[in-house]
Amino acid sequence: MTLPLHTERLVVREFTAADLDELAAIYADPKVLSWEPAFTREQTQAMLEQSLSRYREDGIAEYAVVLRASEALIGVCGPVYRDIEGERLPELGWDLASAEWGHGYATEAARGVLTHAAGLGLRRLYSLIVPENERSRGVARRLGMTVQRQVVWADRPHDLWTIELV
Ligand SMILES: CC(C)(COP(=O)(O)OP(=O)(O)OC[C@H]1O[C@@H](n2cnc3c(N)ncnc32)[C@H](O)[C@@H]1OP(=O)(O)O)[C@@H](O)C(=O)NCCC(=O)NCCS
Repeated sequence: MTLPLHTERLVVREFTAADLDELAAIYADPKVLSWEPAFTREQTQAMLEQSLSRYREDGIAEYAVVLRASEALIGVCGPVYRDIEGERLPELGWDLASAEWGHGYATEAARGVLTHAAGLGLRRLYSLIVPENERSRGVARRLGMTVQRQVVWADRPHDLWTIELV
C-alpha cells in the first residue's frame, strides 16, 4: 500500500511545506502535547522538515492525516526510528487535533499505516506510551498491540507497546 492511503474517512499522505500553519496550530494546543510543553512554530517547522528529509531517505516517517470530506489536516501518524534503551526501533506515533478526538480517526489512520509500514519492509512496530495516557493506550489496544515491557524514554517511564506486521 503506497501513499497516499485512502481509508473510509481519511487520507494519509506525505507532509508538504504548505502544511506548516495547520500543523503548528495542532501542536500549539497544550492538550495535544500534555506530557511535554506545546511546540513553538519553529519546533513544528523543524519536525516538518525532518519528515520531508525522511521521505527522501527511506519513507519511514510521520505522515499527515487529512479528512477526506474537508481536506483539513487533523493530525499526524507514522513510524520513526528512535533510540530506545540502546536499540534503534521503529516507533509508531499518533497525534490528533484535540477537536477531532473521539471519532476513531487515530485508529483508522494507524490501521492504514500498519499496512503501509509492512510494505516498507518493517516486520514489527513499537509505540512508546506513558501509562497515564488512557486515550493513546486505547488506540494501541484497538490496533491489537500489546505491552512488551516498561522502558525509560526521554527521562520518563513508558510502556513499550508492540505489534508484529505480517
Ligand atoms: C491519542 C489520541 C490520538 C487518541 O485519539 P482518539 O480519538 O481517542 O482515538 P481513536 O481515533 O481511536 O478514537 C476512539 C474514540 O472514538 C470513538 N468513536 C466515535 N465514532 C467512531 C467511529 N466511527 N469509529 C471508531 N471509533 C469511533 C470511540 O468510541 C472512542 O471513544 P472513547 O475514547 O470515548 O472510547 C488523541 O487523544 C491525541 O491526539 N492525544 C494527544 C496526543 C497523544 O497523546 N498522542 C499519543 C502519544 S503516545
